[in-house]
Amino acid sequence: MKHENLLITGGAGFVGSNLAVSFKRKYPRTNVIVLDNLKRRGSELNLVRLKENGINFIHGDIRNPEDLNLGNKIDLMIECSAEPSVLAGYSQNPLYVINTNLTGTINCLELARKNNAGVIFLSTSRVYAYDALNSIKTEENEKRLDWQSGQQIKGWSMNGIDTDFSIDTAKTLYGATKLASEIILQEYIGAYNLKGVVNRCGVIAGPWQFGKVDQGVFTFWMLAHYFKQDLNYIGFEGRGKQVRDLLHIDDLFELVDIQASNLERVNGRVYNVGGGRQISLSLLETTEACERISGNKIKIGSDLKNRLGDIKIYITDNKKISDELGWVPKKTTTDILNDIFSWIRENEQQLKKSLQI
Ligand SMILES: NC(=O)c1ccc[n+]([C@@H]2O[C@H](COP(=O)([O-])OP(=O)(O)OC[C@H]3O[C@@H](n4cnc5c(N)ncnc54)[C@H](O)[C@@H]3O)[C@@H](O)[C@H]2O)c1
Repeated sequence: MKHENLLITGGAGFVGSNLAVSFKRKYPRTNVIVLDNLKRRGSELNLVRLKENGINFIHGDIRNPEDLNLGNKIDLMIECSAEPSVLAGYSQNPLYVINTNLTGTINCLELARKNNAGVIFLSTSRVYAYDALNSIKTEENEKRLDWQSGQQIKGWSMNGIDTDFSIDTAKTLYGATKLASEIILQEYIGAYNLKGVVNRCGVIAGPWQFGKVDQGVFTFWMLAHYFKQDLNYIGFEGRGKQVRDLLHIDDLFELVDIQASNLERVNGRVYNVGGGRQISLSLLETTEACERISGNKIKIGSDLKNRLGDIKIYITDNKKISDELGWVPKKTTTDILNDIFSWIRENEQQLKKSLQI
């Protein structure tokens, strides 16, 4: 990678901290700086790890442009700071999610513009309209819901959702603020000759994710099994058959690394990025895997009420990104859950304290 100064916003979080450590290990001469306001519970645990890996931490808030006067020349920014919960703003004031995910991102783009830095933007599959996703006809199998084949829907196939899928109706405040930021990024690319790329990621999973009920479901599920805490299958009749694909954070690093070295080539591109059909799980299947790996069986109840904006099935169609960049995810669902389990076991006491388990 030719970049000398890499800034990762939200760099104490799950994605940001893992990317920071991986970049620093692969490119020891690159100055890796992370900025984070430590809003996410657990992110503070990453500070020791970042320091041990020679990464510079700045305690700052992307909502404040003053916090982004870094005094360093930045040549690449990976924007990972966010309020990433799909429920954000629903039962409380929406200003935090809007001010961080939209206004804060614009502040980051300003920093990039002033530095003439490239931007890799971590967006989300949640930019797609949830009613449209839920209107794809499904069938119920023993352990999971699946789509019915043979439907004619733009942007959908049995392989998953591609970037042509509908963004027309509501998508959650989280998804809407991310989509709005994508649009502004495209304007910065057009107006200021900034180089940037958008990754609309499905669920990303792996070690150092501080999973909670509304975000980071696979870690949340494994944490509950490890610490023997009750869970609920929420929505879609409470049977745990909803499905997500999942992507190991190491596979995401591989992709972002390719993009960082090929920014001219990927400039302005918007990609869907995820595990794909082969790397997907229903909650029911996740329970079975967590039981097998942890050796623990816990009580799992049913909450029949659907959560606003929740979706039955999300699977990424990676065709566009695989065709263009030759990238394919490699880590299986078992690799991902095994890695999460080992991380919890190695950090049991710290996690107990920080997550108040
Ligand atoms: N984890 C996933 O499954 C997933 C899926 C799709 C997209 N993404 C995107 O990837 C990015 C990283 O997500 P993550 O899973 O690491 O979430 P995370 O919550 O672990 O990390 C986000 C970090 O941003 C920080 N932050 C929040 N508000 C901030 C602010 N105003 N100023 C500075 N820092 C702030 C938090 O403290 C946290 O450390 C986000 O943009 C998210 O939308 C994540």
